[in-house]
Amino acid sequence: MFEFPKDFLWGAATSSHQVEGNNINSDWWDWEQNGKVKERSGKACDHWNRFREDFSLAKSLHHNAHRFSLEWSRIEPEEGQFNEEALSHYREVIEALKLNRLEPIVTLHHFTLPLWLAKQGGWLSHKTPNLFARYVRKAVETLGEGVRYWITLNEPVAYVFKSYFMGEWPPAERSYEKTLQALGHLLKGHVLAYDAVKEVNQRLKRSPAQVGIAKHVLIFTPCSDRSWKDRISVWIRNLMFNHLFIRALIRGRIFYPGLFKIQLPKARTLDFIGMNYYTRDFVHNEGFRIPALFGDICTLKHHRQVGRRNFLSWEIYPQGLYRLIKEFSQYKLPLLVTENGVCTDHDEERFEFIESHLGELAKAIQEGAPVFGYLYWSLLDNYEWAEGFSPRFGLIEVDYETQERKIRPSAKRFAQICERGTRP
Ligand code: GAL
Repeated sequence: MFEFPKDFLWGAATSSHQVEGNNINSDWWDWEQNGKVKERSGKACDHWNRFREDFSLAKSLHHNAHRFSLEWSRIEPEEGQFNEEALSHYREVIEALKLNRLEPIVTLHHFTLPLWLAKQGGWLSHKTPNLFARYVRKAVETLGEGVRYWITLNEPVAYVFKSYFMGEWPPAERSYEKTLQALGHLLKGHVLAYDAVKEVNQRLKRSPAQVGIAKHVLIFTPCSDRSWKDRISVWIRNLMFNHLFIRALIRGRIFYPGLFKIQLPKARTLDFIGMNYYTRDFVHNEGFRIPALFGDICTLKHHRQVGRRNFLSWEIYPQGLYRLIKEFSQYKLPLLVTENGVCTDHDEERFEFIESHLGELAKAIQEGAPVFGYLYWSLLDNYEWAEGFSPRFGLIEVDYETQERKIRPSAKRFAQICERGTRP
């Protein structure tokens, strides 16, 4: 039996666009209306109207924390015009969390942008970091009383990779230069947002809040253990995808492969690191130029034997959580598991997933890793971006016709762990 630390945060995460519904002023909504994805988000989980019910379900499941995101395109639907109705909505959301004794962990940017900003170039524009900081300042001024944890950016590297490199998400660019340009602006956006949170809280004489990012982390393994080329690509990928963004924020500057130097206004702008962990990828070297050097994913192509997969064919690899936590302990910052979860149509697999990952987490904590919470992805079934509504990640099942919620058996078993703070 392992006892998790006393004030450990237990809960689940969501993001605005994936659950709220009718998020009409965002670039993703526009993308959906233009037929770029198989399903549109529409009403999603109608969480905009049902958040109270959803939070009381989370409370009944013994969660003591909840991660959610503010939707920038609702708060600032037109450039420089802040929407009071949206702000007071989010004030109610935070109050409802507190009433249910759920620690709010607030994400400021989770993949979506206001459409007006996307039209001006989104993260490719050098103006965006300042515009982001202005929105953050407004959000923190209005909503920040009693919020102890802010996450500026969700998965910035995965986001630029999908949006500017793979061309799968808006604005569907496919360019390494643009990817690095967007990364540079996201880094700067984070630094300015970090300062904005600190400055506002100080000015309003509030207790200081902790500011971090939610970093997508993956295990990379060579397709062929015997191939030194594959091993080089694994090393590069691990650096590019898992570490460089964090190192840039800690050091205040970074060289990305291709010798693209990014200088930030200051160093050490992370109070904690959020880790979103799902799976491992097998990597095959494709050459020594960029981007071939980063390699390609070989799981299907080379029929490499892997463990069980989720509904989206991602391998379930619990040991990866332990390995990454150990690896990230090098940064000597508190760590929070901001996402970890499985999409499956067989709910018994969900608890197996949670239990096995918590086992790895427990092992890392026992060995001294500074992890202060675990947030399952996701509280509810929701809109999984380009994959639509079919992947079911929720602790709570959502019937999208009736919006009825049903607590899954796995959620109840996870609730026992949350309540006792122990893992058998
Ligand atoms: C993360 C992302 C979430 C959710 C999840 C499951 O990468 O932050 O928005 O979609 O993956 O794929």
